[in-house]
Amino acid sequence: CQIDVVIVGSCNMDLISYVSRFPKPGETIHGKRFCTGFGGKGANQCVMASRLGAKTAMVGKVGDDSYGRDTIMNFKENNVVTDFLNTTKESSTGVAPILVDDSGQNSIVIVSGANFQITPVDVQQALSQMESPKVLVCQLEILQETVLAALKEARALGITTILNPAPGVPGLPDEFYQYSDFFCPNETETELLTGLSVSCVEEAKKASLVLLDKGCKTAIITMGGEGAVYATAEARTPLHVPVDAVTPVDTTGAGDAFIGSLAFYLANHSSLELGEMIKRSCEIASTSVLSPGTQTSFPWKQSLHPHLL
Ligand code: RIB
Ligand code: NA
Repeated sequence: CQIDVVIVGSCNMDLISYVSRFPKPGETIHGKRFCTGFGGKGANQCVMASRLGAKTAMVGKVGDDSYGRDTIMNFKENNVVTDFLNTTKESSTGVAPILVDDSGQNSIVIVSGANFQITPVDVQQALSQMESPKVLVCQLEILQETVLAALKEARALGITTILNPAPGVPGLPDEFYQYSDFFCPNETETELLTGLSVSCVEEAKKASLVLLDKGCKTAIITMGGEGAVYATAEARTPLHVPVDAVTPVDTTGAGDAFIGSLAFYLANHSSLELGEMIKRSCEIASTSVLSPGTQTSFPWKQSLHPHLL
C-alpha cells in the first residue's frame, strides 16, 4: 500500500495521575485526577503525522489484551494503517504510569512489554509490503537492534530517516547517528548522549555540532519553550528557531508532536525550507502543551491555522 510516513516504535497505554507535586521516596500522596490515554512515543508521533494529513503506517506490537485492542481501534480512528501492527501472546501491551504536577512537568515509568517483541524481521516484512514510503521514524522505546535494522533498511531503500533518541541513553553507538538523516533529541537526551550541559541556546548550538560529528546529516535539538536548535553536516552553522511563549498545562508528548509534525512536513511538503519545517513543528508542539494528555492534546489539520499546512 501507498504510505508517506512509517513509524517503527512503541505503543503504550498511559496511566496519568495529576498531582500537586511529585512524592518523595517512601511517601504516599493523594492525586487530584486520573485518566488513561493512548501513548508510547511511536504511537504518538504516528497519530500526529496522520492528523496533519500524512498517510501513515505503524509498525509495532501490542499484547493480546484490552489495552492492545483499544490501541488498534485508536489507530483506526486516527486513519493510521494498522496492517503492520501485530498482536503477541508473549507479553502484555506496554504501559506508562505518568505523574503530572501543577507546573505541567511530568515523570514517567515505562513497562515495555510487547514493544520489546518487535524484531528486525517484522520491520523488513512490513517495509517490503509498502509502496515507496518517504519517511521512516524511530525512537528508543523498542529494542536497539530493531531500531538499527529499521534505519539501515530504510537507508537502503532511499527512505529519509528520523531518529528521536528517546528516552535518552548514554553511549549510543555511532551507527545510530550514521543511519539518521535527522537526529532529533531534546535537551536532556542531548546531555546524556554528549555528556555536555545543554541549558541554553548557546550550549545547544555547541552540542548540535558534536551530534553531527557522530555522523548524522542533520541534528535538531528541541528545547521546549526555547524552540529548537539545528545544524546540518553541509553548513555546520547551528541556527536557533524560537517559538512564542505559552503557559504549559501538560507538556507530556510535546516532543512527539514535534517529531510527528516534522515527519509530515518532510514527507508531504518537501519543498519547504528546513528552518520553516522546524518552526511550524514547534508551533504545533506548542499548541499541544496547552491542554492535558498526550494524543488528546494533538491538533487535527482542520483546527490549525492554514499557514501551517
Ligand atoms: O513522550 C511521551 C510518551 O512517553 C508517553 O505517551 C508515554 O507512553 C511514554 O512512552
Ligand atoms: Na499536552
